Amino acid sequence: MARRFGVDWDSYLQGFHTERPGSTEQVLSRAMNGHHTPYRWLARAVSARATTVLDLACGAGAMTRELELPGRLVVGIDISAAELELAQRRNEGPWVRGDALRLPFADESLDAVVSSMGMVVIHPTSRLLAEAARVLRPGGMLAFIAPTVRPVSPGDVRIGANLASRLRTLPRFPGPLEFTDFAATLRNHGMRKYEDGRERYHVTIHSRTDAETMVSALYLPTTSQSRLDAAIAYLEHEVRKNGKVELAVPMRRIVALK
Ligand SMILES: C[S@@+](CC[C@H](N)C(=O)[O-])C[C@H]1O[C@@H](n2cnc3c(N)ncnc32)[C@H](O)[C@@H]1O
Repeated sequence: MARRFGVDWDSYLQGFHTERPGSTEQVLSRAMNGHHTPYRWLARAVSARATTVLDLACGAGAMTRELELPGRLVVGIDISAAELELAQRRNEGPWVRGDALRLPFADESLDAVVSSMGMVVIHPTSRLLAEAARVLRPGGMLAFIAPTVRPVSPGDVRIGANLASRLRTLPRFPGPLEFTDFAATLRNHGMRKYEDGRERYHVTIHSRTDAETMVSALYLPTTSQSRLDAAIAYLEHEVRKNGKVELAVPMRRIVALK
């Protein structure tokens, strides 16, 4: 894997998800837009006729559970043993430990491939897309969500800038945060873009514990503990002043058909 930002992402991700399994889920399952989470938004993109669905980079399985329907087989795959152990404690699966860049599934064997966050975490994106396209049946659907930079409000920008000044960086990912030319990339893999939407979710922080949960779920491979502490202290200060802090979580959902 390329050393983006000078980081050895394979070992960073392995350590992060071994030490903190379920941390993405702790944030995204509390990220709300009206009454729904990003997981619900992604699940809604998948046709009820899809009876074999793969959840790529399933982590602790929040998305996999959201995809469940009577008569549908949902398989979760992840490279992290610790994440899958947590997933298995909640639901019997099937869970598969494996690399999304070498999927252990036959060509054209699945109705839908879904991923919450996998596209920004697994790199190179083109290889991941090639694997997704290979296992999808003709007419099958690829749907994923990824964090993005908009929509945000002026208040979100202020809080984001204050946090970034404590952390001296923004959260980082091995893959690109803003997909550009995605339609062309999909076409190269025999798929066409069907939908590209954005929604603003937010997580409400009520306490120092909430602030710690939020900050420890971010990928910050080059940030020192003292900077993490400063970001948590800033959020705690805002909670004391205003009773709560709303942290924006803008998300993008892309749906493609093979
Ligand atoms: C940000 S978490 C998202 C987890 C889950 N989809 C969610 O949204 O709650 C990224 C996940 O990607 C997994 N991952 C990283 N590289 C992978 C790879 N090459 N193949 C499969 N999973 C991978 C990590 O172990 C981690 O569970």
